[in-house]
Amino acid sequence: MGLTDIYRKGERLLRGKEFGWLLDAVETGFIIEHDRRILDRYTFRPQYIDGVEPKTACRVLEVELATPVIMSAMTMPIPAITENGLMDVAEALKEAGSLMWTGTPIPKNLKKLAAVGVPVVANAKPLRDRDQMFQCLEDIQQAGVTWVGIETDAGQGTKVHDKQVASDCTPLSLKELKDIRKKVSCPLICKGVLSRRDAEKCAEAGADGMVVSNHGAHTLDYLPHALQVLEEIVEAVGGKTILIADGGFRRGSDVIKGLAFGASLIGLGRPILYGLAAEGREGVREIINQITEEMQRIMSLIGAKEPGKLTRDMLVEDP
Ligand SMILES: Cc1cc2nc3c(=O)[nH]c(=O)nc-3n(C[C@H](O)[C@H](O)[C@H](O)COP(=O)(O)O)c2cc1C
Repeated sequence: MGLTDIYRKGERLLRGKEFGWLLDAVETGFIIEHDRRILDRYTFRPQYIDGVEPKTACRVLEVELATPVIMSAMTMPIPAITENGLMDVAEALKEAGSLMWTGTPIPKNLKKLAAVGVPVVANAKPLRDRDQMFQCLEDIQQAGVTWVGIETDAGQGTKVHDKQVASDCTPLSLKELKDIRKKVSCPLICKGVLSRRDAEKCAEAGADGMVVSNHGAHTLDYLPHALQVLEEIVEAVGGKTILIADGGFRRGSDVIKGLAFGASLIGLGRPILYGLAAEGREGVREIINQITEEMQRIMSLIGAKEPGKLTRDMLVEDP
């Protein structure tokens, strides 16, 4: 099954479930269409002559991956899609040479997921009860994850339509981020950075990476897309921390654009859910594999030998 069919089938099946509304956006719903509009603003500058045979493998913070296409942070609603949903996703991502990222709630079987052999990242939320937040960070590390994520953007929890979903959160201060840094012994990634200022603060706190993300339209309405702010963030912290982008990336062409803007990895949220709903473990693996194949095809025709060689001048911006 091709990507288009997997997405269609997966979305149709999920929309029919009682939790289908989780695919939607906060309040007005502006962000999802806006993400698409921004991604569609860029076309490719081909270089057909002397085309290259590209590789998609990459090494990020000591982790070797077959592809820069990874899973974005999510737990809910994966266990409700297939019985062993999280395990299916872990195995699929391992087969594809990708990376798994869990969200809220922190999976009870996190240790087992990490034991599959796929690099696993797990997030903690900025819970109002800071003792509980630090306990979460401790539990995550005990499970043997590769990196720890902290949701710097979830200071007001999450919201879909007019319904508050995650609550009991409050924004982190720079001092608290520094305290988190001290308690996390593996690489620390701040998820949800969309401004130069926040990027500088995360770097000052000692983060190893950040996810340039509007949280899949589940936090604040009218947030920009990652492509709109990546340039200022690269300027501020490029070279100091790694950058990951997510939000609306659906095809190899989208991924190429994110990498050309300076991200090292691109996360997929909803596509993972569609793949799992449509075809189980195979569906998730196919999504990563097919997007990676699309990337390879494009890279060959725009003259990029490896993901790190994708640059902004390979894109043409619509006027
Ligand atoms: C159903 C659902 C649950 C999510 N849960 C979390 C979460 O627990 N923590 C988090 O940081 N982000 C969460 N996200 C946001 C994703 O990590 C990611 O930023 C976003 O989905 C990427 O956009 P995309 O879905 O358009 O690919 C969630 C997104 C969705 C759709």
